Amino acid sequence: MAERGKLRLGVNIDHVATVRNARGGDYPDPLRAAKLAEQAGADGITAHLREDRRHISDADIEGLMDVLSVPLNFEMAATDEMQQIALRHKPHAVCIVPERREERTTEGGLEVAREENKLAHFIAPLRDAGCRVSIFIAADRRQIEAAHRIGAQVIELHTGSYCDAHAEGRFDDRDRELAALVDMAGFADDLGLEVHAGHGLNYETVKPVAAIPQVMELNIGHFLIGEAIFLGLDPAIRKMRALVDDARADQVA
Ligand code: PXP
Repeated sequence: MAERGKLRLGVNIDHVATVRNARGGDYPDPLRAAKLAEQAGADGITAHLREDRRHISDADIEGLMDVLSVPLNFEMAATDEMQQIALRHKPHAVCIVPERREERTTEGGLEVAREENKLAHFIAPLRDAGCRVSIFIAADRRQIEAAHRIGAQVIELHTGSYCDAHAEGRFDDRDRELAALVDMAGFADDLGLEVHAGHGLNYETVKPVAAIPQVMELNIGHFLIGEAIFLGLDPAIRKMRALVDDARADQVA
């Protein structure tokens, strides 16, 4: 069982790069956002280098490795190209995500159970290089067991369905999705996996996930970058930090 501590907040800066790339220049700079996020209380920075480089670039990853004082969680698809990039930089953590060119965002969790051998071979060198290997998966017992068998140290539970159900007012579905996250966080923790969660979280949806005692880290991006337009990045992150800390304190109390 993972040792419980403060819930870590990882801030995903991909969409600072999305805005930058809309004009093709170098403003706004994701590295500046990452440093600001650190000062606002982020425990880590997450960046997804997609195969099509639609937001984060190779140079961004290089820059993040140079400037960050907090750990980098490098999200990537299970491709040879990404494996080589990860092995060159050796970030603190590597999160393996499914990637489809036509999707707008990472729509579902990775299919680990069907790709077990391939993924076991894929992550072994990353582990050997000292990266913590995380697998982004649905709250599904079969996928969690497979992630454990292939030697991942961490799973990140996909919270997208829970958040979508909330946004669409399907509250029974939302509560069912949350119950699955709670159950599967406990199941994964019993197997010795460290449990993270993320995708689609906002101020309305974060607290019940932050209150799951086995969840050690949340990764949040799109909402925070959007909210930065209205509040500024620093206050947007501080507000999220406070909600997360409150949920954790309530759960301990
Ligand atoms: N965790 C993982 C593994 C992701 O792929 C993403 C999206 O890139 C996030 C968390 C953050 O999701 P969002 O941007 O919706 O907060």
